Amino acid sequence: MRSMQDDIAKILLHESTILARLDELAYQITQDYREKPLTVIGILNGSCLFLADLLRRIPIPLQIDCLSIASYHGGLESSGAVAFRQSELPNVAGRHVLLVDDILDTGVTLHVVCEKIGSLEPLSLRTCVLLKKDVPRKAEFDADYVGFAIPNEFVVGYGLDYQQHYRNLPFIGVLSEEAISNPSKV
Ligand code: IMP
Ligand code: MG
Repeated sequence: MRSMQDDIAKILLHESTILARLDELAYQITQDYREKPLTVIGILNGSCLFLADLLRRIPIPLQIDCLSIASYHGGLESSGAVAFRQSELPNVAGRHVLLVDDILDTGVTLHVVCEKIGSLEPLSLRTCVLLKKDVPRKAEFDADYVGFAIPNEFVVGYGLDYQQHYRNLPFIGVLSEEAISNPSKV
């Protein structure tokens, strides 16, 4: 059987590198939200590993919520369409909100989610992404907390997928051309 590792052309960020950066991000977030009512909202599925590792490094009281969003539709290119999969949005009245996503690519997803959550009138709204791709953004958008700036390559692992695969790799790698053209059927 083909292993997931065989499909990786190159490792971009090792697990130890990611976790060391999360220590820094978490420290910054802890300083910024001390004594404030904070709700962290993870954007699923991509942010699940990042969210879990980040939050366990933030030792202040906070609430956790998640939004299930479909924006990529499994391919290599962002479709530009963002679908909210749940009927109820989190209650953020009287709370500061930090949105957490895996990657800022075209910016369309976070732009749409920010508009939606912003309309619920939280005390403040900021965004945190693990990765920021070096591409011209379709939507006017920048994140407040960024783990790593990366080149414009299609990456998988640590929550990021290609056709729903590779999310459970503990590192972030560039997918090989072969794996892109011959996706796993498992
Ligand atoms: P945006 O709306 O174009 O900023 O895209 C954001 C979403 O696209 C992310 O939350 C990811 O789910 C997905 N995405 C963008 N680039 C990549 C990539 O290189 N690998 C896997 N998913 C990606
Ligand atoms: Mg995603």
